[in-house]
Amino acid sequence: MSRATGRLTVLHLSDVHATRDGRLYDAVDGIERLRTVGAYVCQAGITPEAIVVTGDLVERGHADAYEAVGEALDELEHRTGVPVLTTIGNHDDPLAARRLRGHGRSHHRAVIVDDLRFLLLDSSSGELGAAQLTWLRDELQHPHGAGSVIALHHPPLGSPLPSLAKAGLRDADALLDALEGSDARAVLAGHFHHPLSATLRGIPVSVGPSLAYHQVMDAGPDRVSGHDWAMFSLVHLLPGGVSATSVNLHSPSPLFSSPITR
Ligand SMILES: [Fe+2]
Repeated sequence: MSRATGRLTVLHLSDVHATRDGRLYDAVDGIERLRTVGAYVCQAGITPEAIVVTGDLVERGHADAYEAVGEALDELEHRTGVPVLTTIGNHDDPLAARRLRGHGRSHHRAVIVDDLRFLLLDSSSGELGAAQLTWLRDELQHPHGAGSVIALHHPPLGSPLPSLAKAGLRDADALLDALEGSDARAVLAGHFHHPLSATLRGIPVSVGPSLAYHQVMDAGPDRVSGHDWAMFSLVHLLPGGVSATSVNLHSPSPLFSSPITR
């Protein structure tokens, strides 16, 4: 970071799809990947203001995995020294996810981290609904410090993948109506398992890649194809805008590694 330069960093994880036991598709251990993110971030010297995880914390039917997810998120928080904030997605179990820190009373909430306000929304049903949108509009009536980051699972737009073209948030227009003219600096979402960036009504939208598997663009018109490629996103809130960088958790062998000549 940092505050001296007006650049604020948010580490954006999404779609962990943790399982109770064994590996998803015999390959993916979401809990292990959360731990690997902690190691990566520390080794790379990344010092975010906060970490946001935008849903699908567990694979559908694996509600028993929340305990291990909670422990791994606590470990990540301890290791990085910054808050880890979570939202839930369509694979999550809203009842079982209540055991996660911050989710006891409601899955949508506001969290203040220094100058930033995080507005964490629940789109586990595929939409926000009237009550949550009313809450959001009420929150946004009062601007906060360096502004607000909106985090939810479903992006407020479709994917360029034909099979996911209609998989965005069902009440996206109502969300954008609420955000337009507010102090929203960025919308962070997941769900598509591929990175995507957009600007909607002047608001930057960053869809983060998945920590579990990557959905490729050449799957065919009526298919999705998940590949074992774990990524996360580094979001920088800049004085005049937002940047988002997709980061591979595991790298192939380097072709070269040499000092920069300026
Ligand atoms: Fe997912």
